[in-house]
Amino acid sequence: MALLQVHGGSPLHGEITVRGAKNFVSKAMVAALLGDGVSELRNVPEIRDVNIVANLLELHGVVVERDVEAGTVRLDPANVETAHKADIDTMAGTSRIPILLCGPLLHRLGEAFIPDLGGCRIGDRPIDYHLEILRQFGAQVDKLESGILITAPRGLHGTQIELPYPSVGATEQLLLNAVRAHGLTELRNAAIEPEITELIAVLQRMGAIISVDTDRVIRVEGVERLGGFNQTALPDRIETASWAAAALATRGDIYIRGAEQGGLMTFLNTFRKVGGDFDIDDQGIRFRHPGTPLQSIALETDVHPGFMTDWQQPLVVALTQATGLSIVHETVYENRFGFTHALRRMGATIQVYRECLGGAPCRFGRRNFQHSAVVSGPTPLRAADIEVPDLRGGFSHLIAALAADGVSNVRGIELIDRGYENFSGKLEALGAKVERI
Ligand code: EPZ
Repeated sequence: MALLQVHGGSPLHGEITVRGAKNFVSKAMVAALLGDGVSELRNVPEIRDVNIVANLLELHGVVVERDVEAGTVRLDPANVETAHKADIDTMAGTSRIPILLCGPLLHRLGEAFIPDLGGCRIGDRPIDYHLEILRQFGAQVDKLESGILITAPRGLHGTQIELPYPSVGATEQLLLNAVRAHGLTELRNAAIEPEITELIAVLQRMGAIISVDTDRVIRVEGVERLGGFNQTALPDRIETASWAAAALATRGDIYIRGAEQGGLMTFLNTFRKVGGDFDIDDQGIRFRHPGTPLQSIALETDVHPGFMTDWQQPLVVALTQATGLSIVHETVYENRFGFTHALRRMGATIQVYRECLGGAPCRFGRRNFQHSAVVSGPTPLRAADIEVPDLRGGFSHLIAALAADGVSNVRGIELIDRGYENFSGKLEALGAKVERI
């Protein structure tokens, strides 16, 4: 396990750059498989999840040309072919991307294989919505010992679906199937995150016909063929919010070049309510600690346009430095407070509850999930040895280590590489004393 030694206790000051959103770039790369032309994506970050998708696409015969420095990826899907199951399994590792390859591969090859899926340990993260969508399009889903085999010998056919919950991945699954299915598809209760709107824009550039109506309804008219696309990825709003929370927790001042206000509205409102200052210009956003005590808040995570679940963990670290009791109700994932164990060891006062606190009852209420937290602050944080539990929880531990007095050893930081480009280099640029061992 890779280790980062963090000499904490100093504010983060300076400028960093944020590039394209992980949760858009990976899906746009998958969409390229649907076209019969070359696609080009710009503002692509150098993160492990992008490498995994690139490798998976190469396994399926896509020619991938990447200029890491320039942040460009060129994808030529002219010769798509079936990959070996064992290779998919090895390459996918803990990524959930293979589930989204299904639609494009069914259209191109008539079959797809999903190995046992991983992803961050933040709940059960089932794929039942995905499999139901594939079945509704007419695909056959067979469970094998090594994973799941999906076939569609008679092609995919448009359908009407209502999601039980506006899942991001399931909405993407539907889009990637519907654009080339026969006939019309209607999705109700769709997710409408900005990364999904951007994926719809990519698909439209490729030739798809998609309309987004009010009340979370998406309609797709299937087309016979799609071409390639050319697009610049929207900036990563989760990475931006994570660095903003780091500025708050360390009493720092960070200018994030490349950050954009769109998609961050709800975060910015919350940041301001906690007492943080920010200035927005055409090139980026500057986030800074006000120099006066931070205020406690009540917060509930939700699907867009609500407060993103991925912003919750970094912000909770900053809330340990706010005066009074903050209440955080997590309504997207049932198990996203595991990272608070380490924060408690570092001196934070955080209690987690099964009840839905501080908001409307959610689907996890009255079940055995500790999905609400009460944070009491301010509490000085002290250095500790920590093992990274998941991507966002891991970055949050890093923030805590930076805010804490003393030397912390943060293990398993390769998980953070999945979604934060060159984070140790950025930390050094912000004046942090860190050493990757
Ligand atoms: C995406 O995950 C993101 N990942 C997540 O970011 C993000 O937290 C999440 O959307 C919510 O915004 C990627 O884009 C790669 P969901 P996804 O389907 O699509 C339940 C990060 O750190 N559900 O919207 O997997 C599920 O258990 C990651 O970058 C089912 O029950 O999330 C969860 O409770 C972490 N059955 C809820 O829906 C299903 O078949 C929302 O999940 C699918 C989902």
